[in-house]
Amino acid sequence: MADVVCIASWNADLVSRVPRPLARGETLMAQSFTIGPGGKGSNASIACARQGAQVAVVARIGADDFGRMALALWAKEGIDTTAVAVVDGEPSGVAQIWVYDDGDNSIAVAPGAGAGLGPAQVAAAAATIRGARVVMASCEVPESATIAAFRLAREAGVTTLLNPAPARPLPPELVALADVFTPNETELRALAGLPDDAPIDAAAAALLARGAKAVAVTLGAQGCALYRPGQPVVALPRHRVSVADTIGAGDTFTGAL
Ligand code: RIB
Repeated sequence: MADVVCIASWNADLVSRVPRPLARGETLMAQSFTIGPGGKGSNASIACARQGAQVAVVARIGADDFGRMALALWAKEGIDTTAVAVVDGEPSGVAQIWVYDDGDNSIAVAPGAGAGLGPAQVAAAAATIRGARVVMASCEVPESATIAAFRLAREAGVTTLLNPAPARPLPPELVALADVFTPNETELRALAGLPDDAPIDAAAAALLARGAKAVAVTLGAQGCALYRPGQPVVALPRHRVSVADTIGAGDTFTGAL
């Protein structure tokens, strides 16, 4: 049985390094191009498995080269793929990514087969979900799948963890079903419905007031901060590293947590 089940997105990351963001209509020569594994759910699952947990993914991928890349990667990382649907005639997810000289990036995701991940596939993995300690998801998979998984988890007393990325408004039911959130500052303010300059303390308090048991906010170079109801804020400093690129940093934080 799995300790952690991820309702997971998978993308092949097509990464071009460019000096700076492109302007509309501009063509810029890239310094390099690589194809590698990605998808917020897959990235978090790998981080989790590398911490020693038994991880299972519920995912939907195409029967194509990028789909085979996912299956090979998950097998290598010891991740259970019993609940992965491999679909003929639909492409696997792809993320086109620009990484800039300062390490920052922009990402466009075409979810492909992942867009069809739904409650029926989640229901087929119900026993695995009920037997886990944690069920996690990001906002890169369809909300209906995450809600179905979190409902099953809540009924069975399994902790639910939501990485609310990419940032977008969430239905109240999904917010109420999530025990732990791992937003960055922008995502936290968006979730709380507060303006861009609102203090993160206020945004975290708003989320806790809606039933969250913990909000672990990633703060980039400032580290992270943990907010829990009725407890003092725990602020943790960053690890000092030189930035190569920041793709998947929040996913890795989520999976490790
Ligand atoms: O968070 C980084 C991830 O976002 C990338 O791996 C890309 O696939 C997109 O899902």
